[in-house]
Amino acid sequence: MNPLNDLHFSDELNPERDLLELSPDPLPSNASNNRSSLKPIPMWLIMLTMVLLFWSGLYLAYYSGGFKANIYNSELVSWSGAGARGGPVPVDLRVLGKKVFSQNCVVCHQETGLGIPGQYPPLVGSEWALSQGWHGDNHLVKNVLYGLQGPIIVKSIPYNNAMAPWNQLSDQQIAGVLTYVRSEWGNNGSPITPEFVAKIRASTPARTEAWTMQELQAIPRELCSQSAETTEAPKK
Ligand code: HEC
Repeated sequence: MNPLNDLHFSDELNPERDLLELSPDPLPSNASNNRSSLKPIPMWLIMLTMVLLFWSGLYLAYYSGGFKANIYNSELVSWSGAGARGGPVPVDLRVLGKKVFSQNCVVCHQETGLGIPGQYPPLVGSEWALSQGWHGDNHLVKNVLYGLQGPIIVKSIPYNNAMAPWNQLSDQQIAGVLTYVRSEWGNNGSPITPEFVAKIRASTPARTEAWTMQELQAIPRELCSQSAETTEAPKK
């Protein structure tokens, strides 16, 4: 056989070649196929991206705190009006208390809570601060609300000085500072609630003078935790 004939023969049997030859205009159909795979970005994807961008912007506005390092602020009211919509924003008494302490008490009782020997008594391990012995939570709150004057004894050491009243502070601020004092520097006293401070404040509405140790000693000892129990007891 003639090899050329052979080639021709196999050529004729090639179906792909035949199809190409039969197709009137193969190129334009190919081009349109390519165009259909380059469709514009679908609208829903654009919308979704925009919604996500908007949401992430909002998220940063709510929670970034302006990217400040010292951002935790218990009193910050966000522009979202979280307080108005979701009821009062819960306050961490210790965080609030630390702030109240460094603004009002630190000059005398010091950052360390150790006070200044002979002048300002310590709060660390103080039976006054921790309501030990004859001292109750009521005495502690009274002392901070209206001040304390004259001879006192703290950790077996006598002092004879005067502390000004702090009744311009709110119930929450006093509860906070005392909760902080009782749980800082290794102190392990229980928290003081704003309700308890309010109750003690209401018990001597006309008081203006600072307390003395003798006066306080004459008042029966009361604890914040007990008063919470006794006010809840009738509900059972
Ligand atoms: C200007 C100084 C001064 C400041 C400010 C001050 N205190 Fe005092 N504090 C004293 C003095 C002085 C006494 C003792 C009074 C006495 O000798 O009768 C005292 C006594 C106390 C006591 C009872 C004794 C003890 O050491 O535990 C407590 C509790 C107390 N202060 C808490 C506070 C708190 C809380 C604040 C801030 C809200 C505060 N003080 C701010 C001077 C100060």
